[in-house]
Amino acid sequence: DRSIKIAPSILAADFANFGAECEAIEAQGADWVHVDVMDGHFVPNITFGPATCAAIRPHIKGVMDVHLMIAPVDPYIEAFAKAGADVITAHVEAGPHIHRTLQSIRGAGAKAGVALNPGTPASAVAELMDSVDLICVMTVNPGFGGQKFIDMTAKIRELHALIGDRPVHIEIDGGVDPTTAPMLAKAGADVLVAGSAVFRGGSVGNPAPYGENIRAI
Ligand code: DX5
Ligand code: ZN
Repeated sequence: DRSIKIAPSILAADFANFGAECEAIEAQGADWVHVDVMDGHFVPNITFGPATCAAIRPHIKGVMDVHLMIAPVDPYIEAFAKAGADVITAHVEAGPHIHRTLQSIRGAGAKAGVALNPGTPASAVAELMDSVDLICVMTVNPGFGGQKFIDMTAKIRELHALIGDRPVHIEIDGGVDPTTAPMLAKAGADVLVAGSAVFRGGSVGNPAPYGENIRAI
């Protein structure tokens, strides 16, 4: 489906070659580039921070979609906005003041996203509909790529209804592949994050599979 955006997650890319990897996925049909920031505190894994985001920014022509799996979030919003993030997504579970966080993200000039872990119900973001530009439904427990997909179809439908006619994206993150993508689109998702399903079989020297992998989703 052409109206569905594919956002490859560079968590599955070659960490020593982010620039070339971003250019390769965009050249081969990626709509957005999804950037996973982990702090070893909110999630049990560490990736990188705003300096790395700033370094890869010139290698991305389109949307840099930054997923913050960190707590606290607020002290770092300005840094990620300055690094050139177009979308900054914070977890609703990351602190008691998600509304303030979303306001700060918009105030910093980025689109504001809120992410929900699999154990968090749609109702947790019901009061945020006019404060967000994107809702990210996690279909794995965040922290690692390549995990088994958890079906959140009912939650996606609920969020779709809560959003109504507002211009709010529904993004799905975790275990997205050619098997799971169709039901997600049907339930109302319009941005699909995919790490292993895009980068599998590839490397900088052999980037050919990326386009095929993206088209298969
Ligand atoms: C998980 C990350 C995801 C991850 C998805 O914590 O937020 O973006 O990279 O990886 P796959 O597509 O391999 O499940
Ligand atoms: Zn992510």
